[in-house]
Amino acid sequence: MPTGINRQWLLAKRPGGKVDETNFRWVESPIPSPANGQALVRNLWISLHPTALLAISADESQGGTPLGGVMQGDLASQVIESRLPGFEPGDLVVGFAGWEDYSAIDGQGFIPARKFSPDIPPNLALGTLGVTGMAAYFGVLEVGRPRAGETFVISAAAGGVGSVAAQIAKIQGLRVIGIAGGKEKCDWLLREAGLDGVIDHRSEEVGKRLDELCPQGIDIFFDNVGGSVLDEALTRLRQNGRVVLCGGTSRYGKDPQPPGPKNYLALVMINGRMEGLLAKDYLPRFPEAVAAMRAWIRSGQLKSKEDIVVGLENAPAAFARNFTGANIGKQLVKIADPPLSLRP
Ligand SMILES: NC(=O)c1ccc[n+]([C@@H]2O[C@H](COP(=O)([O-])OP(=O)(O)OC[C@H]3O[C@@H](n4cnc5c(N)ncnc54)[C@H](OP(=O)(O)O)[C@@H]3O)[C@@H](O)[C@H]2O)c1
Repeated sequence: MPTGINRQWLLAKRPGGKVDETNFRWVESPIPSPANGQALVRNLWISLHPTALLAISADESQGGTPLGGVMQGDLASQVIESRLPGFEPGDLVVGFAGWEDYSAIDGQGFIPARKFSPDIPPNLALGTLGVTGMAAYFGVLEVGRPRAGETFVISAAAGGVGSVAAQIAKIQGLRVIGIAGGKEKCDWLLREAGLDGVIDHRSEEVGKRLDELCPQGIDIFFDNVGGSVLDEALTRLRQNGRVVLCGGTSRYGKDPQPPGPKNYLALVMINGRMEGLLAKDYLPRFPEAVAAMRAWIRSGQLKSKEDIVVGLENAPAAFARNFTGANIGKQLVKIADPPLSLRP
C-alpha cells in the first residue's frame, strides 16, 4: 500500500457552455484504501474526450458529476492492491477512474473495467484500441456498412475517433473526404492518413467544397460534430446513403440546445438511414476489433495519432483543447509510467 499524497482534480463549477481551467480545482488528499469490492489503481494516462462535457454540465440529479467531486473519466491504470475479484496487483486496466494519481475503483462505470495485455502500450489501449477506436471501428463497419468504391465523408476527421474511422474507411476501399479545422490537420490527413480529399472548415465553405469533391454525392457521412456540417452532408446523400451518428461536439454543453438538423427530410427521397452508434454496445466484440486494428497498425495501414500532454496538472487545459480544436488525433494526458516494481 503506497503512502503519500493523491493529487486530484475536482469539479469546481459547471461549464455553462464554455470549459476552461476555472471549472476545476486542484487538491491534495491521502491515497485511498480500497474497500471490499474495490481495487487501488495507480493512474497512468487519461483520455480526454468531448463527451465528458455532458457529464460535467448535467445536474447531479440527472447523473452529472457532483460539484466538488473528483473528475471522472476513462483512464489506463495499473492495479496496486486488490480486494476486487478478477483483478490482481500488476494488472493493467482501462476503465472508469478519477483525474488523480490513485483511484479506488469498483470496476463498474459506463463501460466496465477491462484488463489489457502488457504488450500493448497503455496510451494505445486507452485511445486507438480503446473506446475511441471501438467507436470508429464499429461505426464504420457495422453502422456504415461500407462497400468498396463508395464515397465516405467524415467530420472532425483529424480527431481521435475521426482519424481512426477515416483510415478504416480507406482500408475498406472507400474514397474518403475529411472535414477538419486548420491546415496542419488537413496536411496530416492527406499526407499521413492517405485521404483522398480534405475540407478545412476554418478557411473553406464546406457545402461548396463538398460539391466539388463529391460530385456524385455522399454514400456514408460519419458525424462527430453535428450542426451545420451535418445539414450540408444530409442534402448531398446519394440513394441509400447512411449517416453514422457518433457524436455532436458542436452541441455539447449548449443551453438551450440549438435546433436539430434542418435537412433531415432529405433522407426520405433517397431511402436514407441515419443511425446512432454507441461503442459500449459492442463490448463483447472489442477483442475482435482490437485484433483487427493491431494487425492494421503492424502492417502500417493504420496510423495511431495521439496528442499527448504530459502531467496531471495539465488535465483541464488538455480537456479544453477538444473544444478549441487544438488536438490532432486522440487527446491524452500522461500521468505516470507503471511503478517499476509492478512493470509488466
Ligand atoms: N458514440 C460513441 O460511442 C462515442 C465514443 C467516443 C466518442 N464519441 C464522440 O465522438 C466525437 C469525437 O470524439 P473524440 O474523442 O475523437 O474528439 P476529437 O474529435 O478528437 O476532438 C474534438 C474535435 O471536434 C472538433 N470541434 C470542437 N468543437 C467543435 C464545434 N463547436 N463545432 C464543430 N467541431 C468542433 C474539433 O476538430 P476540428 O478542429 O477538426 O473542427 C476538435 O478537435 C465526440 O462527439 C464524442 O462525444 C462517441
